[in-house]
Amino acid sequence: MRDLHVVVLAAGKGTRMRSAVPKVLHRAAGLPLISHILRIADSLDPSSITVVVGHQSEQIKAGLQKRLGLGFAVQEPQLGTGHALLQTESLLQGARGTLLLLSGDVPLLRRETLERLVSTHQRRSAAATVLTAVFDNPEGYGRIVRDNGQIAAIVEHKDASPAERAIGEINSGVYAFDLEPLFDALRSIGSENAQGEYYLPDLVRIYRARGLPVETVILEDRNEILGVNSRKELAEVSTILKTRKNDELMAAGVTLVDPATAYIDPDVAVGPDTVVHPGVFLEGNTRIGSRCEIHSGVRIVNSTIDDGVVIKNFCVILDSHVAGGAHIGPFAHLRPQSRVGEDARIGNFVELKKTVVGRGSKASHLAYLGDATIGENVNVGAGTITCNYDGTAKHPTIIEDGAFIGSDSQLIAPVRVGRDAYVAAGSSITEDVPAESLAIARGRQVNKDGWARSRRKRHP
Ligand code: UD1
Ligand code: CA
Repeated sequence: MRDLHVVVLAAGKGTRMRSAVPKVLHRAAGLPLISHILRIADSLDPSSITVVVGHQSEQIKAGLQKRLGLGFAVQEPQLGTGHALLQTESLLQGARGTLLLLSGDVPLLRRETLERLVSTHQRRSAAATVLTAVFDNPEGYGRIVRDNGQIAAIVEHKDASPAERAIGEINSGVYAFDLEPLFDALRSIGSENAQGEYYLPDLVRIYRARGLPVETVILEDRNEILGVNSRKELAEVSTILKTRKNDELMAAGVTLVDPATAYIDPDVAVGPDTVVHPGVFLEGNTRIGSRCEIHSGVRIVNSTIDDGVVIKNFCVILDSHVAGGAHIGPFAHLRPQSRVGEDARIGNFVELKKTVVGRGSKASHLAYLGDATIGENVNVGAGTITCNYDGTAKHPTIIEDGAFIGSDSQLIAPVRVGRDAYVAAGSSITEDVPAESLAIARGRQVNKDGWARSRRKRHP
């Protein structure tokens, strides 16, 4: 939207979180609260986004470091919401059009709601438009006082008379403002009230006194303006965000066996006819294909899983790629930069780290494969270990197509096992194995006839 400037207030203290971490950096559904708000702001494609920080401002700025194109205004000390917005004046100098004000701790707003707020505001040429909602229990919120149907003022709970406290319509703390009269008017807000603060909502009374038009937009889904002031509210908001994501996925053809225990971050994509069992975590930038089966207790972070993959119980998959038709687990650990090829099998208690496993290869039980490049149709026996670390540096292991690694072998890197070669079980391989050959590297077995009988005689 052209000439739309978003300001997010995040300078307050968040006392009720009882935390050393700033409130807006607490996570709900995989993202810090402030990131949820910035995503909603981004979806409106505004001309600018400014965050007002104050309390723990350095931590918040550091938390948003990777986020480009943000302006920061510092409010020090924090003298109220009206004072907070005033701190953006120099950053927004010369800007015209509409200012949309959001709170850093109100993460459930929908884009459609904000579009409706801004378009109503602009269509009616209002000086200010307040997003309101009707609550059964409006305790704590600012109340909307109307006069002949028109909004006349907002009265904070602490300043309200008993008659005003009986009003169910509340101020969401989200507003659209015409930039033109805004900053001058903010300067005329006083602090003679129960909290001794400069209240932004006082602007309504000031505008009405000046004969400027003030409008309201009433929310249909009042859940959208739930704020986070405590850990309990953080959990409630997380549940709502999670439910929204899960509903979206189910509508798109994904089966969630128990949506209450499917924890799927907002950016995760899942293809149709994939089944997600209870207690699964799909996090970050993860992509899951179609017709996959993700069993209970699995955690997948920033990974891509192609179509038709089966991930059995209790696997952890981080920053990795699993190609179509592969089977993983149960109890497998794919550490970052691992790639599992089509139809490969990675079985129980197998750990991969920075390892490529080719198409159709199998490591079915108890193995550590680190810094390894494994070709196609390789069989890695139970108990195989790539000894990739010599105490100083990491070294690569290469296993070419069709090789067979016998159980309980150690491949002491750097080392290469050639095409279609065999490594005998129990070998410690220190030198390259030529293609098509057999390597045996273990002590030769000696059978001592009658040894047990003679031992019994010595130690009766
Ligand atoms: C505010 C509104 C109230 C509304 C409610 C909706 C005021 C005076 N009251 O009350 O009418 O019903 O939101 O949730 O605005 N902040 C700053 N600097 C400050 C003070 C606050 O940046 O000096 C930020 C906070 O970090 C927060 C937001 O402004 O993100 C709202 O402040 P908060 O103290 O939570 O206001 P409420 O009492 O909830
Ligand atoms: Ca609040």
